[in-house]
Order: sequence, then C-alpha cells, then structure tokens
Amino acid sequence: MVQPGASGHGMPLPELYARVSRHVPAIEWPALAPDIEAILRLKRERNAVVLAHNYQAPEIFHTVADIVGDSLALAREAVKVDADVIVLAGVHFMAETAKLLNPAKTVLIPDMRAGCSLADSITAEDVRGLRARYPGVPIVTYVNTSAAVKAESDLCCTSGNAVEVIRSLNAPRVLMIPDEFLAQNTQAALPEIEILTWAGHCEVHERFTPADIREVRDSYPGVTVIAHPECPPDVVAESDFSGSTAMMMNFVIEKRPAQVVLVTECSMADNIAAANPDIEFIKPCNMCPHMKRMSLANIRHALETMTHEVTVAPEFADRARAAVERMLAVKPR
Ligand code: 13P
Ligand code: SF4
Repeated sequence: MVQPGASGHGMPLPELYARVSRHVPAIEWPALAPDIEAILRLKRERNAVVLAHNYQAPEIFHTVADIVGDSLALAREAVKVDADVIVLAGVHFMAETAKLLNPAKTVLIPDMRAGCSLADSITAEDVRGLRARYPGVPIVTYVNTSAAVKAESDLCCTSGNAVEVIRSLNAPRVLMIPDEFLAQNTQAALPEIEILTWAGHCEVHERFTPADIREVRDSYPGVTVIAHPECPPDVVAESDFSGSTAMMMNFVIEKRPAQVVLVTECSMADNIAAANPDIEFIKPCNMCPHMKRMSLANIRHALETMTHEVTVAPEFADRARAAVERMLAVKPR
C-alpha cells in the first residue's frame, strides 16, 4: 500500500512547514526551505520521483517524497513509476531493487555509503555454500541483500510478506537468509515448516531487549508496544503486535492507541506523529545510521548532478530480478 502523506507538490511552503512543524524547529526552516523548493522544481524538470522509506526523516518524508512505504511497497511502486528518474531516499539495496525492476530508468541514490548490516552479513559465495550443503532446500532471501546474493536465491521476501512467501513454497524445509531474527519470528508463525537461517542481524533492531519493553510497560501502564520483526524473538514476544514498517504504521493509524512505543527506527514515530498529534509516542527507539545518510541537501545534489547512479552488473541482474519478481507474484494476505 502507498501510505498517505507524501508529496508536497503544489503546496505552498507554509503548508509544507505545517506538516513538519512538530519536528523541525521554526528557526531551522529557513535553512531547509530552499532545498525543498529546489527539489520540487528539479523533479518537474527531470521528470523524477522521490521514493522514500518510512525511516526517512519527516522533512524528507512529508515534503519531497512522492511515494513512501516499507520495502515491499517501494518495490511494488517502483514497477509502476511513470518517470525517467527515480531518486531512492533509503538504503542501497532498495535503490538496487528499484533498478532491477526498472532497468531502462535512471535510479539515483543521494549517498552511496547508505548500506545495511544485513546486506553486509552475507555474500553470493556464502549462498552458493548453503546451496551445496542443503541440496534441494529452497532459498528465500530477504530484500535487505545485494543483487549478487539475490541472484543466488530462489526468491526474495520482505518483512511484510515473509509468511506468505515461505508458505507459497509448499516445502517442508526452507532456508531463510540472512536475518536470523526475522527467520525465527517467521518460524513462530509457521511451526509446520522447518526454517533454517543465517547469523545476520539488523544493527538497529538487535539492540532492543525484553527489559526495554518491561521498563516502558512499568512506566506507562496500558501502553501499546509494536515491534519490527527484525527484533530478537524475545522482544517480539513481549510486544502487542509485530509487522513491517507499513504494517506498524497502519496498525497505529487504525487502532489509534493513546500511547504507543514503536520498537524500531526513530523516524517512524516522528512521521506518524506529524500527521496524528493525538497519539503519544514513547521511547525507546534507535537510529539507523545508513538511513540517516539521506538529507534534503544531498537529494537536491543528486537531482542537480544526476548522481549517484545505481547500476547492477549484467552477470547477475536477470537472476536477481527473477528472484524479486517471483516474490512480487506471491499473493498478499
Ligand atoms: P520494512 O520497511 O520492509 O519493514 O523494512 C525495515 C527495514 O529495516 C528496512 O531497512
Ligand atoms: Fe539495515 Fe537495519 Fe538500517 Fe534497515 S534499519 S537499513 S535493516 S541496518
């Protein structure tokens, strides 16, 4: 689903400021407004769109993004984009996925260093090793991986469709890599299938502990706790709901708990709070240093200079694309 709240096209600057005023102090706005104006103009001139992940800061998410969402929505929407240029405000694997699905379009990422600890945890050679060790066992690879790793896999999944993807295989045993915790959390939902995994972790979510949740419940009785499935299983077990970033967002917007803790990246709460001032968001949250490499200044620079262009090596582009497309063909719940 494409979430509401994106694209400030055609909105006067004061209205754009109203969208982010809870998170951007008035004194900082004059420094940001020229970048926003320039990005909105450059998008028209270049026939470009900005796809932004839910972890982007409110001044990106609520002003210059055309499409916002979780990894699954960004992949789905990338296929439908009617533009010559896609600027991916997120991390490198997301830009690579957009390029795989749009080989004829120019895909830009404002900072090439925006990586991911999960993507760094496994190589194509590792996957070939698993294939040799577990012959005949299907390999499902989280989208948080390089195209080279995807190319060695049978199909991909995201945190938004992991259960459906694994179930769609009708196999008694599945390798689900590289996120150990996502695999363990998926295993809990699919006890009839044996899920083997890898020791990769998200550096943002692995830091949460059950003690964090108990502490927040002691201080805020009745608080609703929502955890991303990249968190350790004992953290997810202490929470009231778990799902992808879009699922977390939809849950909060639909159920409207008075107080909520989103056990995930900090911008998630900020982005929901900007449009839902009646909901109180409680800490803890952690920052993703890779997501936070994106800024209005470097999105503007990307559109001005048409850098940094994301390409996928031809020797594995077709196989990686097939793994993503097989995932997109799995019917959602
Ligand atoms: P989703 O938005 O797909 O839930 O993924 C979270 C994440 O960690 C992306 O880097
Ligand atoms: Fe990777 Fe975790 Fe950052 Fe997402 S939040 S990009 S999984 S390090």
